[in-house]
Amino acid sequence: MNKNNIPVTRSSLPNIEEYMAEIKSIWENHWLTNMGPKHNELKDALLKYMQVDNMDLFTNGHMALELSLQALNLQGEVITTPFTFASTTHAIVRNGLEPVFCDINPNDYTIDVTQIEKLITDKTCAIMPVHVFGNICDVETIQNIANKYDLKVIYDAAHTFGETYKGVGVGNFGDVSCFSFHATKVFNTIEGGAVCFKNPQLGKILYELKNFGIHDEEEVRAVGANAKMNEFCAAMGLCNLRHIKDDIASRKVAVERYRSHLEGVNGIKLNYINPNVEYNYAYFPVVFDKKIFGASRTEVQDKLKEHSISARKYFYPLTNSFSAFNGKYDVMKTPTALHVSKNILALPLYADMTLEDVDRICEIILTCAKK
Ligand SMILES: Cc1ncc(COP(=O)(O)O)c(C=O)c1O
Repeated sequence: MNKNNIPVTRSSLPNIEEYMAEIKSIWENHWLTNMGPKHNELKDALLKYMQVDNMDLFTNGHMALELSLQALNLQGEVITTPFTFASTTHAIVRNGLEPVFCDINPNDYTIDVTQIEKLITDKTCAIMPVHVFGNICDVETIQNIANKYDLKVIYDAAHTFGETYKGVGVGNFGDVSCFSFHATKVFNTIEGGAVCFKNPQLGKILYELKNFGIHDEEEVRAVGANAKMNEFCAAMGLCNLRHIKDDIASRKVAVERYRSHLEGVNGIKLNYINPNVEYNYAYFPVVFDKKIFGASRTEVQDKLKEHSISARKYFYPLTNSFSAFNGKYDVMKTPTALHVSKNILALPLYADMTLEDVDRICEIILTCAKK
Protein backbone atom coordinates (compact mmCIF):
# COMPACT_ATOMS: atom_id res chain seq x y z
CA MET A 1 0.00 0.00 0.00
CA ASN A 2 1.22 3.52 -0.85
CA LYS A 3 2.28 5.11 2.42
CA ASN A 4 0.09 8.12 1.68
CA ASN A 5 -3.03 5.93 1.40
CA ILE A 6 -5.24 6.18 4.45
CA PRO A 7 -7.78 3.37 4.95
CA VAL A 8 -11.05 4.03 6.77
CA THR A 9 -10.05 1.45 9.36
CA ARG A 10 -7.10 -0.82 10.10
CA SER A 11 -7.21 -3.96 12.22
CA SER A 12 -5.25 -3.96 15.48
CA LEU A 13 -2.70 -6.78 15.57
CA PRO A 14 -0.29 -7.89 18.28
CA ASN A 15 3.29 -8.41 17.13
CA ILE A 16 3.74 -11.74 15.44
CA GLU A 17 5.99 -13.17 18.17
CA GLU A 18 3.29 -12.54 20.77
CA TYR A 19 0.69 -14.37 18.68
CA MET A 20 3.06 -17.28 17.94
CA ALA A 21 3.74 -17.70 21.66
CA GLU A 22 -0.01 -17.63 22.35
CA ILE A 23 -0.86 -20.35 19.81
CA LYS A 24 2.08 -22.63 20.68
CA SER A 25 0.03 -24.69 23.14
CA ILE A 26 -2.52 -25.42 20.40
CA TRP A 27 0.17 -27.54 18.69
CA GLU A 28 0.79 -29.33 21.95
CA ASN A 29 -2.83 -30.19 22.75
CA HIS A 30 -4.27 -30.42 19.20
CA TRP A 31 -7.44 -28.69 20.45
CA LEU A 32 -8.50 -26.39 17.61
CA THR A 33 -12.14 -25.58 18.36
CA ASN A 34 -15.21 -26.66 20.39
CA MET A 35 -14.75 -24.60 23.55
CA GLY A 36 -11.07 -25.29 24.17
CA PRO A 37 -8.71 -23.76 26.75
CA LYS A 38 -8.13 -20.50 24.78
CA HIS A 39 -11.88 -20.03 24.35
CA ASN A 40 -12.43 -20.45 28.08
CA GLU A 41 -9.47 -18.26 29.06
CA LEU A 42 -10.71 -15.46 26.80
CA LYS A 43 -14.23 -15.77 28.16
CA ASP A 44 -13.00 -15.40 31.74
CA ALA A 45 -10.82 -12.41 30.81
CA LEU A 46 -13.69 -10.70 29.00
CA LEU A 47 -16.16 -11.24 31.85
CA LYS A 48 -13.79 -9.13 33.93
CA TYR A 49 -12.99 -6.52 31.29
CA MET A 50 -16.62 -6.03 30.26
CA GLN A 51 -17.79 -5.98 33.90
CA VAL A 52 -20.59 -8.51 33.37
CA ASP A 53 -21.66 -11.65 35.24
CA ASN A 54 -22.75 -13.75 32.26
CA MET A 55 -21.44 -13.99 28.73
CA ASP A 56 -20.55 -16.48 26.03
CA LEU A 57 -18.37 -16.32 22.93
CA PHE A 58 -19.54 -16.75 19.35
CA THR A 59 -18.05 -17.06 15.91
CA ASN A 60 -19.16 -13.52 15.01
CA GLY A 61 -21.47 -10.73 16.12
CA HIS A 62 -24.16 -11.67 13.65
CA MET A 63 -24.58 -15.21 14.98
CA ALA A 64 -24.65 -13.71 18.47
CA LEU A 65 -27.69 -11.64 17.43
CA GLU A 66 -29.38 -14.39 15.47
CA LEU A 67 -29.03 -17.04 18.19
CA SER A 68 -30.04 -14.60 20.95
CA LEU A 69 -33.37 -14.02 19.23
CA GLN A 70 -33.78 -17.78 18.79
CA ALA A 71 -32.88 -18.46 22.42
CA LEU A 72 -35.56 -16.02 23.61
CA ASN A 73 -38.11 -18.01 21.59
CA LEU A 74 -39.80 -14.91 20.19
CA GLN A 75 -42.72 -14.59 17.82
CA GLY A 76 -44.25 -11.57 16.10
CA GLU A 77 -42.87 -8.05 15.73
CA VAL A 78 -39.57 -6.58 16.86
CA ILE A 79 -39.17 -2.80 17.10
CA THR A 80 -35.77 -1.76 15.78
CA THR A 81 -34.06 0.99 13.76
CA PRO A 82 -32.97 1.02 10.10
CA PHE A 83 -29.84 3.12 10.78
CA THR A 84 -27.63 0.10 11.38
CA PHE A 85 -25.58 -2.59 9.68
CA ALA A 86 -27.45 -5.25 7.65
CA SER A 87 -26.87 -7.74 10.46
CA THR A 88 -29.41 -6.26 12.92
CA THR A 89 -32.36 -6.40 10.54
CA HIS A 90 -31.26 -9.69 8.96
CA ALA A 91 -31.07 -11.38 12.37
CA ILE A 92 -34.73 -10.45 12.96
CA VAL A 93 -35.95 -11.54 9.53
CA ARG A 94 -33.92 -14.78 9.53
CA ASN A 95 -35.69 -15.73 12.78
CA GLY A 96 -39.07 -15.42 11.05
CA LEU A 97 -39.80 -12.22 12.99
CA GLU A 98 -41.14 -8.97 11.54
CA PRO A 99 -38.99 -5.83 11.93
CA VAL A 100 -40.97 -2.69 12.75
CA PHE A 101 -38.80 0.32 12.05
CA CYS A 102 -38.65 3.15 14.54
CA ASP A 103 -36.90 6.42 13.68
CA ILE A 104 -33.66 7.54 15.34
CA ASN A 105 -33.02 10.72 17.28
CA PRO A 106 -30.94 13.32 15.47
CA ASN A 107 -28.73 13.88 18.50
CA ASP A 108 -26.87 10.56 18.81
CA TYR A 109 -28.54 8.43 16.07
CA THR A 110 -29.88 5.80 18.50
CA ILE A 111 -33.56 4.79 18.67
CA ASP A 112 -35.94 7.72 19.27
CA VAL A 113 -37.52 6.55 22.54
CA THR A 114 -40.41 9.02 22.17
CA GLN A 115 -41.61 7.05 19.15
CA ILE A 116 -41.42 3.47 20.43
CA GLU A 117 -44.77 3.23 22.22
CA LYS A 118 -46.88 4.20 19.22
CA LEU A 119 -45.34 1.28 17.27
CA ILE A 120 -46.30 -1.32 19.88
CA THR A 121 -49.11 -3.68 18.84
CA ASP A 122 -50.45 -6.91 20.32
CA LYS A 123 -47.87 -8.71 18.14
CA THR A 124 -44.84 -6.86 19.53
CA CYS A 125 -42.51 -9.20 21.41
CA ALA A 126 -39.24 -7.27 21.70
CA ILE A 127 -37.24 -4.10 21.15
CA MET A 128 -33.87 -4.40 19.41
CA PRO A 129 -32.07 -1.05 19.64
CA VAL A 130 -28.52 -0.37 18.41
CA HIS A 131 -25.79 1.47 20.36
CA VAL A 132 -24.69 3.28 17.18
CA PHE A 133 -21.01 4.38 16.90
CA GLY A 134 -20.52 3.71 20.61
CA ASN A 135 -23.42 6.02 21.54
CA ILE A 136 -25.38 4.22 24.23
CA CYS A 137 -29.18 4.21 23.81
CA ASP A 138 -31.50 5.71 26.43
CA VAL A 139 -31.38 2.41 28.34
CA GLU A 140 -33.56 3.60 31.25
CA THR A 141 -36.51 4.71 29.10
CA ILE A 142 -36.25 1.60 26.92
CA GLN A 143 -36.34 -0.66 30.00
CA ASN A 144 -39.36 1.23 31.40
CA ILE A 145 -41.25 0.72 28.14
CA ALA A 146 -40.23 -2.96 28.02
CA ASN A 147 -41.44 -3.48 31.60
CA LYS A 148 -44.74 -1.70 30.93
CA TYR A 149 -45.55 -3.87 27.87
CA ASP A 150 -43.71 -7.06 28.93
CA LEU A 151 -41.23 -6.96 26.03
CA LYS A 152 -37.72 -8.40 25.74
CA VAL A 153 -34.82 -6.04 25.02
CA ILE A 154 -31.95 -7.24 22.83
CA TYR A 155 -29.22 -4.66 22.31
CA ASP A 156 -27.05 -4.67 19.23
CA ALA A 157 -23.93 -3.59 21.10
CA ALA A 158 -21.52 -4.39 18.23
CA HIS A 159 -19.97 -0.90 18.48
CA THR A 160 -19.65 -0.62 22.26
CA PHE A 161 -17.00 -3.09 23.37
CA GLY A 162 -15.73 -2.21 26.83
CA GLU A 163 -17.89 0.89 27.29
CA THR A 164 -19.63 1.82 30.52
CA TYR A 165 -22.75 3.90 31.19
CA LYS A 166 -22.87 5.60 34.60
CA GLY A 167 -20.01 3.28 35.56
CA VAL A 168 -21.90 0.09 34.61
CA GLY A 169 -20.61 -2.22 31.85
CA VAL A 170 -22.83 -1.71 28.78
CA GLY A 171 -23.48 -5.48 28.52
CA ASN A 172 -25.60 -5.32 31.68
CA PHE A 173 -28.53 -3.55 29.99
CA GLY A 174 -31.54 -5.31 28.50
CA ASP A 175 -32.12 -9.06 28.53
CA VAL A 176 -29.26 -9.56 26.12
CA SER A 177 -26.45 -7.46 24.57
CA CYS A 178 -24.57 -8.69 21.50
CA PHE A 179 -21.01 -7.60 20.66
CA SER A 180 -18.90 -7.95 17.52
CA PHE A 181 -15.20 -8.76 17.61
CA HIS A 182 -14.83 -8.43 13.84
CA ALA A 183 -11.42 -7.48 12.41
CA THR A 184 -12.58 -3.87 11.97
CA LYS A 185 -13.81 -3.41 15.53
CA VAL A 186 -12.03 -1.75 18.47
CA PHE A 187 -11.32 -5.22 19.89
CA ASN A 188 -10.97 -8.07 17.41
CA THR A 189 -10.66 -11.84 17.47
CA ILE A 190 -10.30 -11.81 13.64
CA GLU A 191 -13.98 -12.80 13.45
CA GLY A 192 -15.87 -13.15 16.69
CA GLY A 193 -18.64 -12.02 18.93
CA ALA A 194 -20.16 -12.32 22.37
CA VAL A 195 -23.53 -12.31 24.08
CA CYS A 196 -23.97 -10.87 27.57
CA PHE A 197 -27.19 -12.00 29.24
CA LYS A 198 -29.12 -11.47 32.48
CA ASN A 199 -30.62 -14.92 32.94
CA PRO A 200 -28.10 -17.78 33.38
CA GLN A 201 -30.77 -20.21 32.09
CA LEU A 202 -30.69 -18.35 28.78
CA GLY A 203 -26.91 -18.89 28.74
CA LYS A 204 -27.43 -22.66 28.79
CA ILE A 205 -29.77 -22.43 25.78
CA LEU A 206 -27.32 -20.16 23.92
CA TYR A 207 -24.45 -22.56 24.63
CA GLU A 208 -26.38 -25.40 23.04
CA LEU A 209 -27.60 -23.29 20.12
CA LYS A 210 -24.05 -22.33 19.13
CA ASN A 211 -23.23 -26.06 18.96
CA PHE A 212 -26.07 -27.35 16.74
CA GLY A 213 -28.52 -27.56 19.65
CA ILE A 214 -26.61 -30.54 21.06
CA HIS A 215 -27.54 -31.11 24.70
CA ASP A 216 -25.46 -34.22 25.32
CA GLU A 217 -24.15 -37.24 23.43
CA GLU A 218 -27.62 -38.62 22.94
CA GLU A 219 -29.92 -35.62 22.80
CA VAL A 220 -30.25 -32.69 20.39
CA ARG A 221 -32.81 -30.33 21.87
CA ALA A 222 -32.97 -27.48 19.36
CA VAL A 223 -32.29 -26.67 15.72
CA GLY A 224 -29.09 -24.81 16.46
CA ALA A 225 -26.25 -23.55 14.30
CA ASN A 226 -22.48 -23.78 14.35
CA ALA A 227 -21.32 -20.54 15.98
CA LYS A 228 -18.40 -21.60 18.18
CA MET A 229 -15.32 -19.42 18.46
CA ASN A 230 -12.22 -21.41 17.48
CA GLU A 231 -8.93 -21.48 19.40
CA PHE A 232 -6.94 -19.33 16.93
CA CYS A 233 -9.52 -16.55 17.13
CA ALA A 234 -9.61 -16.79 20.92
CA ALA A 235 -5.78 -16.61 20.97
CA MET A 236 -5.91 -13.42 18.89
CA GLY A 237 -8.41 -12.05 21.40
CA LEU A 238 -6.11 -12.87 24.33
CA CYS A 239 -3.26 -10.98 22.64
CA ASN A 240 -5.37 -7.99 21.58
CA LEU A 241 -6.92 -7.72 25.04
CA ARG A 242 -3.44 -7.10 26.51
CA HIS A 243 -3.19 -3.95 24.36
CA ILE A 244 -6.78 -2.75 24.40
CA LYS A 245 -6.27 0.05 26.91
CA ASP A 246 -3.40 1.50 24.86
CA ASP A 247 -5.39 1.11 21.64
CA ILE A 248 -8.38 2.98 23.06
CA ALA A 249 -6.10 5.69 24.47
CA SER A 250 -4.50 6.17 21.02
CA ARG A 251 -7.93 6.33 19.37
CA LYS A 252 -8.95 8.97 21.90
CA VAL A 253 -5.94 11.13 21.01
CA ALA A 254 -6.85 10.89 17.30
CA VAL A 255 -10.50 11.76 18.03
CA GLU A 256 -9.45 14.79 20.08
CA ARG A 257 -7.22 15.93 17.21
CA TYR A 258 -10.13 15.60 14.75
CA ARG A 259 -12.30 17.61 17.13
CA SER A 260 -9.67 20.32 17.51
CA HIS A 261 -9.90 20.93 13.73
CA LEU A 262 -13.59 20.35 13.05
CA GLU A 263 -15.48 21.40 16.20
CA GLY A 264 -17.50 24.56 15.62
CA VAL A 265 -17.12 24.54 11.82
CA ASN A 266 -20.43 25.74 10.30
CA GLY A 267 -22.38 22.95 8.61
CA ILE A 268 -20.55 20.10 10.35
CA LYS A 269 -22.09 18.02 13.15
CA LEU A 270 -19.72 15.89 15.20
CA ASN A 271 -20.69 12.92 17.36
CA TYR A 272 -22.58 13.86 20.54
CA ILE A 273 -20.62 13.32 23.76
CA ASN A 274 -22.59 11.92 26.70
CA PRO A 275 -20.81 12.67 30.00
CA ASN A 276 -22.20 9.41 31.48
CA VAL A 277 -20.42 7.25 28.90
CA GLU A 278 -16.86 5.94 29.02
CA TYR A 279 -16.24 5.71 25.26
CA ASN A 280 -14.16 3.28 23.21
CA TYR A 281 -13.64 5.78 20.35
CA ALA A 282 -14.70 3.26 17.73
CA TYR A 283 -15.77 5.69 14.98
CA PHE A 284 -15.55 9.32 13.95
CA PRO A 285 -18.80 10.09 12.10
CA VAL A 286 -19.46 13.57 10.68
CA VAL A 287 -22.78 14.84 9.31
CA PHE A 288 -22.45 17.51 6.61
CA ASP A 289 -25.07 20.14 5.83
CA LYS A 290 -24.22 21.10 2.26
CA LYS A 291 -26.15 24.40 2.34
CA ILE A 292 -24.13 25.67 5.28
CA PHE A 293 -20.82 23.84 4.89
CA GLY A 294 -20.59 24.24 1.11
CA ALA A 295 -20.07 20.59 0.16
CA SER A 296 -22.08 17.38 0.53
CA ARG A 297 -20.69 14.29 2.24
CA THR A 298 -20.30 12.64 -1.16
CA GLU A 299 -18.30 15.62 -2.46
CA VAL A 300 -16.12 15.45 0.66
CA GLN A 301 -15.72 11.68 0.21
CA ASP A 302 -14.71 12.19 -3.46
CA LYS A 303 -12.21 14.91 -2.53
CA LEU A 304 -10.63 12.62 0.07
CA LYS A 305 -10.53 9.80 -2.50
CA GLU A 306 -8.50 12.05 -4.84
CA HIS A 307 -5.89 12.05 -2.06
CA SER A 308 -6.10 8.22 -1.59
CA ILE A 309 -8.04 8.61 1.66
CA SER A 310 -11.01 6.30 2.27
CA ALA A 311 -14.03 7.55 4.19
CA ARG A 312 -17.21 5.49 4.42
CA LYS A 313 -20.91 6.31 4.01
CA TYR A 314 -21.86 4.55 7.22
CA PHE A 315 -24.66 3.58 7.73
CA TYR A 316 -25.92 3.89 4.19
CA PRO A 317 -28.25 2.78 2.73
CA LEU A 318 -30.84 2.30 5.49
CA THR A 319 -31.71 -1.36 6.06
CA ASN A 320 -35.42 -0.67 5.39
CA SER A 321 -34.46 0.35 1.82
CA PHE A 322 -32.50 -2.83 0.94
CA SER A 323 -33.55 -4.33 -2.39
CA ALA A 324 -33.63 -7.67 -0.52
CA PHE A 325 -36.95 -6.52 0.96
CA ASN A 326 -38.53 -5.63 -2.42
CA GLY A 327 -39.94 -2.28 -1.29
CA LYS A 328 -41.78 -3.84 1.68
CA TYR A 329 -40.84 -1.01 4.07
CA ASP A 330 -41.43 2.73 3.70
CA VAL A 331 -38.24 4.73 4.34
CA MET A 332 -40.34 7.92 4.63
CA LYS A 333 -41.58 6.57 7.98
CA THR A 334 -38.05 7.03 9.37
CA PRO A 335 -37.20 10.55 8.05
CA THR A 336 -34.45 11.35 10.53
CA ALA A 337 -32.65 8.09 9.79
CA LEU A 338 -33.02 8.82 6.07
CA HIS A 339 -31.59 12.32 6.46
CA VAL A 340 -28.63 11.20 8.58
CA SER A 341 -27.80 8.26 6.30
CA LYS A 342 -27.68 10.61 3.29
CA ASN A 343 -25.38 13.13 4.94
CA ILE A 344 -23.04 11.13 7.17
CA LEU A 345 -19.44 10.14 6.53
CA ALA A 346 -17.27 8.03 8.85
CA LEU A 347 -13.72 9.38 8.72
CA PRO A 348 -10.65 7.13 9.04
CA LEU A 349 -9.92 6.01 12.59
CA TYR A 350 -7.74 3.22 13.98
CA ALA A 351 -5.40 2.70 16.89
CA ASP A 352 -2.11 3.37 15.09
CA MET A 353 -3.33 6.35 13.08
CA THR A 354 -0.84 9.20 13.05
CA LEU A 355 -1.85 12.71 14.05
CA GLU A 356 -0.23 13.98 10.84
CA ASP A 357 -2.78 11.91 8.91
CA VAL A 358 -5.63 13.37 10.98
CA ASP A 359 -4.28 16.87 10.24
CA ARG A 360 -4.04 16.11 6.51
CA ILE A 361 -7.62 14.73 6.37
CA CYS A 362 -9.02 17.77 8.16
CA GLU A 363 -7.08 20.17 5.96
CA ILE A 364 -8.60 18.56 2.85
CA ILE A 365 -12.11 18.59 4.36
CA LEU A 366 -11.81 22.25 5.28
CA THR A 367 -10.79 23.16 1.71
CA CYS A 368 -14.30 21.93 0.72
CA ALA A 369 -15.97 24.49 3.02
CA LYS A 370 -17.67 27.67 1.82
CA LYS A 371 -15.17 30.47 1.73
C1 LIG B 1 -24.13 -2.59 14.26
C2 LIG B 1 -23.59 -3.94 13.88
N1 LIG B 1 -24.31 -5.03 14.18
C3 LIG B 1 -23.86 -6.26 13.90
C4 LIG B 1 -22.65 -6.46 13.28
C5 LIG B 1 -22.25 -7.86 12.92
O1 LIG B 1 -21.05 -8.25 13.52
P1 LIG B 1 -20.11 -9.32 12.79
O2 LIG B 1 -19.47 -8.66 11.60
O3 LIG B 1 -19.10 -9.66 13.86
O4 LIG B 1 -20.93 -10.49 12.41
C6 LIG B 1 -21.85 -5.34 12.98
C7 LIG B 1 -20.50 -5.43 12.37
O5 LIG B 1 -20.06 -6.02 11.54
C8 LIG B 1 -22.34 -4.05 13.27
O6 LIG B 1 -21.63 -2.96 12.96
